[in-house]
Amino acid sequence: EKGGYDYFMLKEIVEQPRAVADTLLGRLSVDGLLTLDEMRLTPEDLRSVEKIVIIACGTSYHAGLIAKYAIEHWCRIPCEVEVASEFRYRDPILDQQTLVIAISQSGESMDTLMAVRYAREQRARVLAICNVNGSTIPRESDGVLYTHAGPEVGVAATKTFMTQLIACYLVGLYLAQVRGLKFGDEITAVIAQLATMPEQVDKVLKTVEPVRELARSLSDADTVLFLGRHVGYPVAMEGALKLKELAYMHAEAFAAGELKHGPIALIEDGLPVVVVVPSPKGRSVLHDKIVSNIQEVRARGARTIVIAEEGDEAVRPYSDVLIEIPAVPTLLQPVVATIPMQVFACELALAKGNDVDQPRNLAKSVTVE
Ligand code: F6R
Repeated sequence: EKGGYDYFMLKEIVEQPRAVADTLLGRLSVDGLLTLDEMRLTPEDLRSVEKIVIIACGTSYHAGLIAKYAIEHWCRIPCEVEVASEFRYRDPILDQQTLVIAISQSGESMDTLMAVRYAREQRARVLAICNVNGSTIPRESDGVLYTHAGPEVGVAATKTFMTQLIACYLVGLYLAQVRGLKFGDEITAVIAQLATMPEQVDKVLKTVEPVRELARSLSDADTVLFLGRHVGYPVAMEGALKLKELAYMHAEAFAAGELKHGPIALIEDGLPVVVVVPSPKGRSVLHDKIVSNIQEVRARGARTIVIAEEGDEAVRPYSDVLIEIPAVPTLLQPVVATIPMQVFACELALAKGNDVDQPRNLAKSVTVE
């Protein structure tokens, strides 16, 4: 059942175009609008939302961080994101106008479940984004949007993260739609772009071979740092988490703008630094800033591994290794930028002889608090 691969994880990585297509299936209608009535939350429910709180753990938390950028931009609804294990212990402010979005692949993470129960006791409405049909979290929530990624056997989340991102975009765009399409043209354009994501993911997977070579060449590194800005920051966090889990390496992610506030002191000769670069179009201010960050770390000896949009010539002179990804709208970039990270961590772990399906000390679903 590994489809000819040595590990489920390798199969699950290449299944991503199909998984993403399945998340979109039946939810984009021909008139360019979204149909998400299945969520069990009515348009009236969604129109009354005044605040969104996203709760999740691990990789699902990273999907939540990305969702915040998209939801606040598209819907202008304030959105907080919190790791589920911290949530109910700090007396969070919730009411009937609060929509809590609980993101959980398994639907069984105890931290997330306890946070869901707490939120409902406080009369907030809870929407679950989940991969496992009929699991506990969706059963205890007011509504659910399933990701339909299919079963994920590898302990490290890959295709389920990718489909969580798609589900989060769907929720954000649907909220914008039912609340009156404030950014009408932009929303319509993004929905059209979302429909092309399976092809974009396929395209990235066809060009990742150099990432494998790179990973093998770094199997002796002690530390890898990851930098990003805007939605590239949670992507960097996800890249670092994958490397910790799979390759048992010290990996840390920073918002590139924070470098000068401390982490730049870590840079030394030969240190691999992976940088997620925002699109040169649209958000050019951030793009220029991150190009300076790449120059700064390189001037201090870092080996720069740069993930940037194809045709982004500005980063080339400062990239020891340049990994190109397709041009997509900024908020959707995590879908394509994450794939090289997954392949990098997986290949590096394999080069070290690790079992990527069953990393040490980890379980697929964490049912204790
Ligand atoms: C990382 C990973 C974990 C899970 C986390 C939440 O690769 O798999 O960090 O993302 O334990 O699990 P779910 O999404 O099932 O609640």
